[in-house]
Formats: sequence, C-alpha cells, structure tokens
Amino acid sequence: MLKGKIALVTGTSRGIGRQIALTFAGNGAVVYANARKEGSLDSLTEESKNMNGKVMPLYFDVTDTDALKNAFIRIKKENRKLDCLVNNAGIMQDALIGMIDKKTIHDVFETNVFAVMELTQLAARIMIKQQSGSIINLASIVGINGNKGQLVYSASKGAVIAMTKTAAKELAPQNIRVNAIAPGMIDTEMFRSIGTEKTTERLGNIGMGRLGTTENVAKTCLFLASDLSEYVTGQIVGVDGATII
Ligand SMILES: NC(=O)c1ccc[n+]([C@@H]2O[C@H](COP(=O)([O-])OP(=O)(O)OC[C@H]3O[C@@H](n4cnc5c(N)ncnc54)[C@H](OP(=O)(O)O)[C@@H]3O)[C@@H](O)[C@H]2O)c1
Repeated sequence: MLKGKIALVTGTSRGIGRQIALTFAGNGAVVYANARKEGSLDSLTEESKNMNGKVMPLYFDVTDTDALKNAFIRIKKENRKLDCLVNNAGIMQDALIGMIDKKTIHDVFETNVFAVMELTQLAARIMIKQQSGSIINLASIVGINGNKGQLVYSASKGAVIAMTKTAAKELAPQNIRVNAIAPGMIDTEMFRSIGTEKTTERLGNIGMGRLGTTENVAKTCLFLASDLSEYVTGQIVGVDGATII
C-alpha cells in the first residue's frame, strides 16, 4: 500500500510509533524512523530487514529545532521528496489541578505541540513543492473529551486537533492531507504508566472490553498514509473500541 513512498515517523523506539514504522515498512515504504537515544532502534531495524520497505534510523530529539532542520535536509537530499509525516512522539505527565508546575506545562507542550508545529512546517515546505503529501498527528480521546488529572496533556492534544483542522484547510489546495488519530486506551508503556489498579478500573470504560493494540492504531495510520484515503482530510479518527471518557 505504500510502495515507493518516503515517510518520517517520530518516536519509534517503542509503543505506537514503533508499530507504525514496522507496518509502513511492511507495506513497502522507506521509513525514516526517529528516536532520541542512539542505538534504541537496533531491534526495529533488525525486525524490518526482510520486509518490502526499509527502516532508516534517524536520531534526534523532536524539541531540538536545529536537529529537526538537519533531519529534513538529509531526507530531501536522499530522496528529493517526503510523502508522509507521522507526528507520533509524545509525553504524558498527569497532575491534579493545583499540583501542576510550570515545568510540566512547558515540557508537555514543547514535545506534544511546539515540535508538531515545527515538523509540520518543515514537511509542508517539501510537500508544497511536490504538490502531494499526508501528515498524520497522534492526538488522543482526552483531547476531545477531557479527563480528570490530565489538564495539561488533554490541552496539548486539543491543540493537536485544532492544528490538524487548520493545517488541513490551509494545505488542501496543495493536495496535502492532514488528519489526526485519537486513540483511546492503547496497551503501551505510556498507558501502563498509570498503574495496574487504574488500568483495570478503566477497562470497564471500554465498550469492546479490551485495551487497544498498537496494531489497531498502526492500521488506521496506514490507511491515512495510503492513497485509499486520497479524499480524506481534516478528520480526527477515533481508535478507541467505543471508550467512554
Ligand atoms: N497509549 C495510549 O493509550 C495513547 C492514547 C492516546 C494517545 N496516545 C499518543 O500516541 C503517541 C504514542 O504513544 P505511546 O503510547 O506509544 O507512548 P510511549 O510508549 O510512551 O512512546 C512514546 C514515544 O515517543 C518518544 N518521544 C518522547 N519524547 C520525544 C522527543 N522529545 N523526541 C523524540 N521522541 C520522543 C519516546 O522515545 P524515548 O524512548 O526516547 O522516550 C517513545 O518512542 C503519543 O503521542 C501519545 O500521546 C497514546
């Protein structure tokens, strides 16, 4: 489904981003897989070895503007194009109202919002020239509905949703599509960080009675990256198994 396509996926050292990179490579894409820590993509690269596409590790922190620019210079130099950007890297830091410090607000917005703005601009510059492209942002169900203890995180994902809709409007005339995925509760380290007790408690809020898998999210991402969704833009696609928050 992605044969010949060039994609950049951020935050692929684990969880949803790792699975998106594997799914894209399995479908023929050349995937520039980003992670912060040198060597943290060794197993991903190994696992993708016999796939139709390939994984190219690209180490940088999404909050480092100079590193972002260099990454795009490299992608442009090596391919002359970029078909898909997946803004997946994200952090979650929860605290109740009254207990939130300024560093938390800054850190969460720097990764979840400011970096997405910068990456979107850098990708759009290449995509405008080629008059095509798909940008996919990882939002969250809590960016739509809110959630106790997640004032900062939910606001950051709400910003991602607003950004997705605005970018979709602005870039549609250039044939660039911008969509977001709003996962519910997906079985990753991020979700498990809330603790076993809360995880069990929250299972009761999922209509389908189970946590989502990284594959569930990656398959939706594949659809949005591929030409199957060629007339889909500005959409926030829930992947939540009928979760109530
Ligand atoms: N899991 C869920 O239930 C859920 C629900 C809704 C939305 N989401 C969203 O889906 C996305 C992926 O979540 P996940 O559950 O897979 O999370 P995860 O398991 O915590 O993985 C997050 C990934 O982002 C990377 N990352 C964080 N900060 C980064 C930075 N500054 N630069 C580069 N990479 C960075 C991490 O790399 P390191 O190894 O370097 O830390 C890691 O690879 C996030 O945007 C999250 O908000 C997840």
